Amino acid sequence: MAPTTPLLTPYKMGNFNLSHRVVLAPMTRNRSYDNMPQPHAILYYSQRATDGGLLITEATGVSDTAQGYPETPGIWTKEQVEAWKPIVNGVHKKGGIFFCQIWHVGRVSNHGFQPNGDAPLSSTDKGITPGLDGVDWSPPRRLRVDEIPALINDFRLAARNAIDAGFDGIEIHGANGYIIEQFLKDGVNDRTDRYGGTLENRCRLALEIVEAVANEIGGDKVGIRLSPFGNYMESGDSNPGALGVYMANALNKYGILYLHLIEPRMMDPQTPYTTLPMRKAFKGTFISSSGYTKDDGNKAVGEENAADLIAFGRLFLANPDLPKRFELGADLNKYDRATFYTQDPVVGYTDYPFLEV
Ligand SMILES: Cc1cc2nc3c(=O)[nH]c(=O)nc-3n(C[C@H](O)[C@H](O)[C@H](O)COP(=O)(O)O)c2cc1C
Repeated sequence: MAPTTPLLTPYKMGNFNLSHRVVLAPMTRNRSYDNMPQPHAILYYSQRATDGGLLITEATGVSDTAQGYPETPGIWTKEQVEAWKPIVNGVHKKGGIFFCQIWHVGRVSNHGFQPNGDAPLSSTDKGITPGLDGVDWSPPRRLRVDEIPALINDFRLAARNAIDAGFDGIEIHGANGYIIEQFLKDGVNDRTDRYGGTLENRCRLALEIVEAVANEIGGDKVGIRLSPFGNYMESGDSNPGALGVYMANALNKYGILYLHLIEPRMMDPQTPYTTLPMRKAFKGTFISSSGYTKDDGNKAVGEENAADLIAFGRLFLANPDLPKRFELGADLNKYDRATFYTQDPVVGYTDYPFLEV
């Protein structure tokens, strides 16, 4: 018998029968003009779809205050829902399973992206250091406690809209320094009310969003992405190990489908942390991501049992037929960083070549 390739073995994720474990990681591509999903995304996502493969969309805004980067898609209007439908359809035609990553950037924004030029919203009124990553971040406005239900409701409605657009489920973006992390992490959250201070209070918003979304569409269609070990956009935490395990345990209460982690070594190859305690604590499917090669991925889902699925970002961006290349042991196309976030509907987007077989 030929040796099995763990990444290419089937896996049952809740009600979904996956034929392999190579997941498309969520990636912002800045080609959704005026926050509208565009027809060129039909080709982009369907190129990366396989029968029984899981795809996660780019981060998709839950409201008109959710944006902080140019030309990112939304899912809060009827028009956006309609525009997503043919994209979802394209993935389904190839047998793919498609989750929409729903997102609010919080303070990772500036006046120019906000309605009426208002201040971006956050857990805090402390801004990101101006000039970080070459962007003129605006000082945010701290959400009042009585405004938080509306933010939760935006996530709930976005999840409902995603289901109406035909998506199989949603991923709550609770990673990478955006609004949910701005509440989770003590390096940002300086509140003294029930949404700040203790670990329990800092996790309250994330869990209230999970609960609202799971009640709306069913926990069996809900995943969440977390990066407790990251420091992206100045969102560090003094005890990320405790934060991660607290969240993993708390999430079990809502019966959600998956927990998707960004590996700590992505930020620091010397890190003392691992995601194993979270993997152990969480009862659903565990997706690991960031910095993976084919070999690392095979080890993680194989002998190490560190994850059920591996999400690939840049390798999948540059190799639309990544699972096939893994199967054949083929060379990989190199990704071109220069076109990650440009607005061309083809270049660096749908023009990466497939294997010629
Ligand atoms: C172009 C680009 C856009 C990204 N956009 C998002 C995003 O919208 N949401 C998200 O959670 N992560 C985003 N990420 C992070 C990726 O999902 C992934 O964690 C990261 O690329 C590391 O994984 P890799 O080593 O497999 O590329 C993005 C990464 C890249 C390269």
